[in-house]
Amino acid sequence: MFHLLCKWALPALLTLCWSLGAVAATDAPSAMAERVRACTSCHGEQGRAAPDGYYPRLAGKPAGYLYHQLLNFAEGRRRYGPMAQLVQPLSDDYLLRMARYFASLDVPYPAPSREAPRISRQALEHGRQLALYGDAARKLPACATCHGTPLMGTQPNVPALLGLPLDYLTAQLGAWQTGERRAHAPDCMAEIVRRMNPGDIIAVASWLSMQPVPTPSHARTLQQGVALDASLRCGSAPELDAQPQQKGQP
Ligand code: HEC
Ligand code: HEC
Repeated sequence: MFHLLCKWALPALLTLCWSLGAVAATDAPSAMAERVRACTSCHGEQGRAAPDGYYPRLAGKPAGYLYHQLLNFAEGRRRYGPMAQLVQPLSDDYLLRMARYFASLDVPYPAPSREAPRISRQALEHGRQLALYGDAARKLPACATCHGTPLMGTQPNVPALLGLPLDYLTAQLGAWQTGERRAHAPDCMAEIVRRMNPGDIIAVASWLSMQPVPTPSHARTLQQGVALDASLRCGSAPELDAQPQQKGQP
């Protein structure tokens, strides 16, 4: 229902939104809130996410991460028709300003799911292990290595893993497995999901979706990079890498 409404309302809202964008000369939060009405019609008020778990939250996610996603939709590394149509005509500068606007919003997260887990306690425990400790035997680093110890992301490019619904998490990890979702190369997340089996994905996503979001909820800044195996470099988050770049390299 909501989906249909969005589809129906989109052209009208877009016209309103982008014509406003063209005349507004300032990035004042109130002007920006008006300009992103086309976005919040799907992503919920202030980008808090729609209740159905399909339209992701934008509020408070790291700016670099949001910006990369807008580029990913525009350039076909992520596929969702309405998003691509919306962002393709916009300049990179404008995408960055929208990303910064949503990143700056500090609005509460919904409570985690209270539904009984659909998997066994052992499977949930396996999910917790993968998230916090990884599995050295399979060269699978802990999710926390890059997503931060409270799993709330690291600035400016790595998103939180808490506060996301189970369906969204499994859809995204599944999309990396099938190549439907890609990040800037080298794509560390693609490599990580390649090392996971379907049971791992359900386990880790289920455990993550049941955790409460800590306060403060914003992503922390890494004090120093992490020692990453060369096969796990992240093109969209080069700051994660503890190895200093040699002079002269980009
Ligand atoms: C028609 C509904 C719709 C509209 C309008 C829309 N989005 Fe989206 N957006 C989505 C859906 C659905 C996804 C998730 C797609 C997927 O599963 O990859 C998404 C994903 C995103 C993501 C990635 C989020 C993440 O955590 O990875 C960003 C960023 C985003 N949208 C920003 C925007 C902005 C900015 C606008 C306005 C210019 C906008 N969206 C308008 C439906 C919409
Ligand atoms: C080597 C670093 C690294 C590790 C380890 C890692 N991630 Fe990621 N992850 C990233 C980066 C970087 C991104 C952002 C990718 C992009 O720009 O699209 C990301 C994005 C994600 C997203 C997308 C979130 C969203 O809002 O759409 C999910 C889900 C995710 N990771 C899950 C996991 C899980 C689960 C684990 C552990 C099994 C894990 N990650 C381990 C670096 C890592």
